[in-house]
Amino acid sequence: MLINKEMKMADVIHLNHHLLPIINRFGIQLGFGERTVQEVCKDYAVNLDFFLEIVNTFHDPSYFPLRHLRSFAPGMLIDYLQKTHLYYLKIKLPEIAQYIRQLTTNTDMDPNHVQLLQDFFTSYESELSAHINREEQRVYPYIRTLEKALQTGAVMTDYPTSEAYTIHHYEEEHDDVESKLFDLKNIIIKYLPSPVESRLFNIILHELFELEKDLNNHAHIEDLILVPMVEKMEKELIKAKSNQ
Ligand SMILES: [Fe+2]
Ligand SMILES: [Fe+2]
Repeated sequence: MLINKEMKMADVIHLNHHLLPIINRFGIQLGFGERTVQEVCKDYAVNLDFFLEIVNTFHDPSYFPLRHLRSFAPGMLIDYLQKTHLYYLKIKLPEIAQYIRQLTTNTDMDPNHVQLLQDFFTSYESELSAHINREEQRVYPYIRTLEKALQTGAVMTDYPTSEAYTIHHYEEEHDDVESKLFDLKNIIIKYLPSPVESRLFNIILHELFELEKDLNNHAHIEDLILVPMVEKMEKELIKAKSNQ
């Protein structure tokens, strides 16, 4: 069942509470009363169609409205992706790191095992931060430049040059940040002896599953929507230049 504009926002959360962080990313907070999705989006000045496409791609992985999502402004998509990055770096990773630290004081777990988990997680944090930095410093500014050139009709005289960065480079270098997370989950599921009081251990595992699902959705949007969108923009710019 897909989410539509007539549904009450409260029912959306009842249907799939995993959507809450996605909805928060749009600046929308709990306390919906009886308002529908459409009404809440209007109150928060959120683009309703864009909101529906994003929540539905997350809610139902088989729903991937390639053509429709590609019709939104690239800037809007990048804003959403950047908010997701912020959520990983400022909220999710510190939260999980804190849970791992608590294993030392709140459980009977072997400190060496906690250290192993901590080291693995720290190296994962660095990997994800580097991945995000590359996108924020290199890829997104490039896309915003293309968007501006297309909006203003300006011909980029130096575009494309043989050594210029294109979205093809991003496509090639866009590495998979989920596989290491899978390894981390396996360390917990298969190899580390669980503490007697396993609640905290289970919470950590649950958080890693949630993060993985979010990262998968994020990477899908980048690979299947952002890249083709930018390829189209590049073609338009090359065409504009050849017509000059
Ligand atoms: Fe990203
Ligand atoms: Fe990425």
